[in-house]
Amino acid sequence: MLNIAIDGPCGAGKSTIGKLVARELDITYLDTGAMYRAVALYVSERGIDVNDAESVRRLLPDIRITYAGGAQDKRIFVNGNDVSLAIREHRISKMASDISKQQSVRDFLIAMQREIASQSDVVLDGRDITSNVLPHAQFKFYLTADASERARRRHSELIAKGSDVDYDTVLRDIVDRDRNDMNRPIAPLIVTEDADVVDSTNMSIEQVVAYIVDKVRQG
Ligand code: DC
Repeated sequence: MLNIAIDGPCGAGKSTIGKLVARELDITYLDTGAMYRAVALYVSERGIDVNDAESVRRLLPDIRITYAGGAQDKRIFVNGNDVSLAIREHRISKMASDISKQQSVRDFLIAMQREIASQSDVVLDGRDITSNVLPHAQFKFYLTADASERARRRHSELIAKGSDVDYDTVLRDIVDRDRNDMNRPIAPLIVTEDADVVDSTNMSIEQVVAYIVDKVRQG
């Protein structure tokens, strides 16, 4: 199976780019961050603190994540409920980052991610895909951009969706989340030696997509 792994900090454009790369190559796209968000949403809706590792671990067997829709534009469901929009709420971002520190949650989701990658040609994006989920993927990319540029992009996205969050809050959250994701003891976000680092601060989406697709086509 063709496996393309993309990691990077929040707001680097991984999902936009991952989706377009998958469309160009006519393969499946899987946003693994959405899975952590879905678990965080489910746990918080049950009134459980996402940092309460034992209670979270006990809830995991009740969670069934499924998908519907196109290969590159799937909707994500938890126990039959479409949570595709709800998981994008600003408050879920920090909860997802916090819950992703727990080994039980990671084990639960990584098993699903590896299963999907073993059955289909996929672009997987996340924080530990190149280092941990698919260390033997044929293609590995680390996508990044300056924090201020990532905050600018994320802020416009949230405003377009009707949020009234201000830029400084988004920037602060991005810096906090980077720290959280890069410094956690389990599967932190790192640049692996064999990953191709793409800094998109001064690149358009189309340029990044073309760069990745070219690399894959050249083999
Ligand atoms: O990509 P995202 O912002 O939607 O991801 C939400 C959080 O999930 C992120 O802050 C860290 C966590 N995550 C992870 O730990 N491992 C992954 N493979 C993907 C996301």
